[in-house]
Amino acid sequence: MRKKMIIGNWKMNMTPNECKSYINFIKNKIDAALEDNDIILCVPSVDFIDALKCVENTKIMIGAQNIYFEKKGAFTGEISIRMIKELGINYTILGHSERRNIFSESEELINKKVRAAVENSINPIVCIGESEKQNSKFSAARFIKIQTGNVFVSINTQQAKKITIAYEPVWAIGTKSTPTLERIQEVCYEIRNNIVNLYGQLISEQIRIIYGGSVDSKNIKEIINLPDVDGVLVGSASITPEFISIVNYQKT
Ligand code: PGA
Repeated sequence: MRKKMIIGNWKMNMTPNECKSYINFIKNKIDAALEDNDIILCVPSVDFIDALKCVENTKIMIGAQNIYFEKKGAFTGEISIRMIKELGINYTILGHSERRNIFSESEELINKKVRAAVENSINPIVCIGESEKQNSKFSAARFIKIQTGNVFVSINTQQAKKITIAYEPVWAIGTKSTPTLERIQEVCYEIRNNIVNLYGQLISEQIRIIYGGSVDSKNIKEIINLPDVDGVLVGSASITPEFISIVNYQKT
């Protein structure tokens, strides 16, 4: 059975002091939910050390928002896999649409990062999803199939199992509008189907596929309970007290 995951993507928010106050505020309020769900806060890299300290003795995990694929060297401004691993961080978001669109990350670069991550026992949460322009049913399906294939280039079966795919329609990010539940299920089913074609049924059933884009305390329960949705990626609401009700969705 695939364990559900709730991932907070803090983006470029929260100074180290704000990070400490926020985690200390939420951590005792979400204890029960941690039995059934993996909760991962993907924080800015300057917050790693404080965030890790704050979650000691809890089951909350800390993740990165990005890494570079090279081992080390002259790559000003980047962080390596060894750097996050030494701290005890095992998850990273990769290929978020903001990385793709604002920082011009290509499918090829994202695949290199995914490969570097899985080769070094880091679990990448790889974002894919159609833009507003591609939002007609047919072109979105075609686009998502291509994107899924590009994520898994040169990834073997054992490595594939470490990857989580986050379906994030770009038009739903930060807009307070989400696709219908039918549509979310349909696309996540399609993504799993694409993975069946790549690795077979058994592996496809072990890979987690999550949804992201305007998830809040009102819509999480219905979204996370869809058959092919194994969790959610939460942006804006993950830096507010609302995140507590999101994580505790089973209580409502
Ligand atoms: P949102 O962001 O929850 O603010 O829509 C999601 C994301 O960017 O991952």
